[in-house]
Amino acid sequence: MRKGRPSRTALKVALAIISLGAKPGMEKLLPPGIVQATAELLVASGAAGRRTVRWAGSRLALSVYEAFDWMLPGQFEAFAGRKVFFERQVRDGLDAGARQVLVLGAGYDTLGWRLAPEFPNVRFLEIDHPATAHLKAKGIAAMGRPENLCLIAEDLGKRQLVDLLKSNATWNPHARTVILAEGLVMYLSPEAVSSLFCQCAALVGSGSRFAFSYFARGADGRPDAGRWTGLMLWLQKAVGEPWIWSIRPEELGSFLERAGWRIAPELVELSGLRGVEFYAVATNRAYER
Ligand SMILES: C[S@@+](CC[C@H](N)C(=O)[O-])C[C@H]1O[C@@H](n2cnc3c(N)ncnc32)[C@H](O)[C@@H]1O
Repeated sequence: MRKGRPSRTALKVALAIISLGAKPGMEKLLPPGIVQATAELLVASGAAGRRTVRWAGSRLALSVYEAFDWMLPGQFEAFAGRKVFFERQVRDGLDAGARQVLVLGAGYDTLGWRLAPEFPNVRFLEIDHPATAHLKAKGIAAMGRPENLCLIAEDLGKRQLVDLLKSNATWNPHARTVILAEGLVMYLSPEAVSSLFCQCAALVGSGSRFAFSYFARGADGRPDAGRWTGLMLWLQKAVGEPWIWSIRPEELGSFLERAGWRIAPELVELSGLRGVEFYAVATNRAYER
């Protein structure tokens, strides 16, 4: 992440969601209100200007995104499926008794803002890198921050999550929790990813779930983002948000076990590769659906 600069990749995902809103049929797939809320958030936070947001919602922007889909095959449309997947995990987790939702590397995602009023007895916490989190907080304040939504600005590569949440009066380490890391772990070092999963296991009550997306590791040991991986790795590095962490899907189960989680493929309806990412869900002890 470039020092002091808001995340470009978070902005890219948010603009993609707005563009997907212009695709016929997408309104049936995308979570209700997500396109409007994302557009409002980008403008209110100053992350993007009104004109950029209007352009992102045009048919022209849609065709530009589609024209460049060869760089990350299938990933543009997969952003819609990714939003559906993570929101499904939250709703299912809440149905199963979760009382906290922790969104790590939240970017300009609007799930917390949209769901907090619907679930007033659930605490929603979001964490992101300070430069992005501060902008988002400004936007959320302008849109009206629900009382049960808390935004935290921290670098997860530097600050221990355990320290951060222990000092947060609203966090209950015994509560059943849904943790989301959507498009995050690839940006962290291997040490930070292992530590993050271990810390999360120590911070939540039994029956919690952790949903995340990740890149598979290629034969050369690098994240595998398809045919143009080399170009994409270079571009990501150039924008200051390099992809670092990846794992072979067959090694994910043992990795999670070591960190105190159990892989739960039965909770992943959309199994396998989506765009260039895999989705996974892990649970801790005493999980009951
Ligand atoms: C690709 S964006 C995904 C944003 C959001 N989860 C979504 O899918 O719409 C990655 C996010 O991870 C955040 N991030 C990356 N490294 C981080 C770190 N060390 N600490 C906190 N957040 C980080 C970035 O600021 C950015 O918002």
